[in-house]
Amino acid sequence: MPEFTKLFEPGKMGKVELKNRIIFAPCGTHYSTHYGYISEQQLNYYAERAKGGAGLLIIEGASCRKRGKPGRILVNDDKFIPGMAKLAKICHDNGAKVVMQMSSHQGSMDEVDSASPSGLPHPFAGWSTSIPKKTRMITVADLEELAVEYGEAARRIMEAGFDGVVIHGANGYLPCELLSKRFNKRTDAYGGDLKGRAKFLLDLARLTRQKTSPDFAVLMRLMGSDRISKPGDEGWDKNDTVELCKLMEANGITAINITSGSQETPEWSCPPYFMPNGCNVDITSAVKKAGVKMPIWVTGKIMTPALAEQILQDGDADYICIARGLIADPFWPTKAKEGRVEDITPCICDDRCLEDVMVDWQPMSCTVNPMVGKEQEFHAKMPRITKKKKVLIVGGGPGGMQAAIIAAQRGHKVTIWEKGKELGGQLIIAAVPPDKGDLGNLLNYLRLQVAKAGVKVVLNKKATPAAIKAFAPDSVIVAVGSTPWVPPIPGIEGKNVINCRQVLSGEKEIGKNVVEIGAGHVGCETCFFMAEKKGSNVVMTFPEPAIEAKFWMFKKYFLDKLAKDNVKIYGHCQYKQVTPDGVEIITEDGVTMFLKCDTVVLSTGSTPDDNFGKSLRGKFMDYAEIGDCVKPRKIREALEEGIWAAVNL
Ligand SMILES: Cc1cc2nc3c(=O)[nH]c(=O)nc-3n(C[C@H](O)[C@H](O)[C@H](O)COP(=O)(O)OP(=O)(O)OC[C@H]3O[C@@H](n4cnc5c(N)ncnc54)[C@H](O)[C@@H]3O)c2cc1C
Ligand SMILES: Cc1cc2nc3c(=O)[nH]c(=O)nc-3n(C[C@H](O)[C@H](O)[C@H](O)COP(=O)(O)O)c2cc1C
Ligand code: SF4
Repeated sequence: MPEFTKLFEPGKMGKVELKNRIIFAPCGTHYSTHYGYISEQQLNYYAERAKGGAGLLIIEGASCRKRGKPGRILVNDDKFIPGMAKLAKICHDNGAKVVMQMSSHQGSMDEVDSASPSGLPHPFAGWSTSIPKKTRMITVADLEELAVEYGEAARRIMEAGFDGVVIHGANGYLPCELLSKRFNKRTDAYGGDLKGRAKFLLDLARLTRQKTSPDFAVLMRLMGSDRISKPGDEGWDKNDTVELCKLMEANGITAINITSGSQETPEWSCPPYFMPNGCNVDITSAVKKAGVKMPIWVTGKIMTPALAEQILQDGDADYICIARGLIADPFWPTKAKEGRVEDITPCICDDRCLEDVMVDWQPMSCTVNPMVGKEQEFHAKMPRITKKKKVLIVGGGPGGMQAAIIAAQRGHKVTIWEKGKELGGQLIIAAVPPDKGDLGNLLNYLRLQVAKAGVKVVLNKKATPAAIKAFAPDSVIVAVGSTPWVPPIPGIEGKNVINCRQVLSGEKEIGKNVVEIGAGHVGCETCFFMAEKKGSNVVMTFPEPAIEAKFWMFKKYFLDKLAKDNVKIYGHCQYKQVTPDGVEIITEDGVTMFLKCDTVVLSTGSTPDDNFGKSLRGKFMDYAEIGDCVKPRKIREALEEGIWAAVNL
């Protein structure tokens, strides 16, 4: 059994004693009520994370002034104190210390009042409707007013019984734009040298300290680097951070949490699957080596207890601050402590959670933990059953596996029939493209949990209505997935046309020159695979106006990588025909063009495998269809429907 001795060493931050070195990082949930109060849903969500064993929870960025759209916690009025007090109590009662992050102004990204130090707009303005197009220059009066609001908010948070506050100085928001010479061209007291550019953060620290008691922790989260600048450049790099940490230490800050990434580099702030693990350790290591004495916490794709332990053992940080790992599995700390690392539900870093709150402005969901935000409902339904049923699950993709795990854990006798030679469904090929290895962790996890739950798995078994009837189950859950959708283009049925699933599974080989049709995530990833793993010359075509990635972070990644892989792109085109030699298109400019190729690859989406369900509906008392066979969507929907089908048995 692996022992994570450093990870479970108690620690102290100012007067606040922590039982271990694991901190839940702040994550906006949009679970608050319309008016900014803490909701029941939020209480249950944080209670679960406290129960899961983290030493300290940082409550999501609460706003010190009223916001435009609802969803955020507000701390701009004393009327919010009773709700906050309930939250502090529920965390304490479940064994965790708790602090709240204060965040107010998101600089050029601010949805109510886009304003930056010198009036420069967000670098991706126009890429998404959620990024403001117009930005004004923030005034001295604005900055002074904001600082006063922080002080007042900190007082309220203390009165509500929290152990401290975290001042938000990361994720590229206003404080980061002020720190960066690239964004901050001011010549007044808030510009110029480091002290000037850090004046706003120093004011926040000072006013927060003034309004709170000495044993209240005043913590700060900082952008450790904008990940563009090199030493001496007009930006922000780790040497600047070292100096800033020293300044903050001298100004009464209790501890510092370091992340990285600016408005231009969001992939560092919430590192997706294509980013390296532990990506901010270089910065905390530099801060520690520079002799900063206060506790330094590191954040950024630290997904395994082994990596967390290693960072602490190496002295590269004093605490490990984890966000998505504990959204995916709140019991990550407890499972690590008990040596059950293989039972930790792995976060696959697809940033669906972030997309919900940042792009769609929806309550947060999670791909691998669909019960996030639904904890109470789930626990109410999960208890073991009184009548054991014989349950047959048809299809061993993520939906089928998840349904089987929960049904078996509840005490039913469960069998999966899978027509393929292994469990996994589309998840197997989804993990194949370059950078998608994190999905493989989910696949392994689900397979292991199926085995541990005692589910009987029958492979190479294609279910038919007659076979199911003969098996005589009490309950049937159908999870047979989807099939590729074929667009109606003349010649599309030709032998040279195959689909992305056949390419990624290795079922069909592609030629040297390929034309790909489709521009979603799967289309882009299939192009990467064909260019990088198969060495083909790839031309990507699609009828939509642009590549389909609503989150600008992924759009940037896709465009950069397609360019790196020399993939030629014809977007917004019409298809005239497919011939044995290639594809005839009409380009966006109205030019008819023939794209010669050996293989045409379709990444044009999926259609539900509905026929099978039709043949069974109405024949069983206990019957459910889940996942892609209902409507092709994503892993999260398949897992969630699997859970509900199993708890309703
Ligand atoms: C290339 C690719 C990449 C993707 N990437 C992502 C991603 O990054 N993130 C994301 O969220 N989603 C992704 N998806 C979508 C995701 O994989 C699906 O939404 C998800 O797998 C659906 O799960 P499911 O269990 O409903 O169906 P499936 O995964 O399709 O599983 C259905 C299973 O049923 C079996 N089956 C079918 N008929 C029978 C029968 N008669 N008897 C027995 N067994 C049968 C099949 O063999 C299969 O194993 C991707 C899909 C593809 C194709
Ligand atoms: C859904 C979501 C919401 C977030 N909200 C906040 C926030 O309110 N304040 C903040 O400082 N960081 C926020 N973050 C960033 C995380 O705190 C964290 O820095 C980031 O996810 C990287 O850590 P991880 O790799 O452990 O997930 C959010 C991240 C996610 C996924
Ligand atoms: S699995 Fe995806 S949605 Fe869930 S926490 Fe990780 S990144 Fe967020």
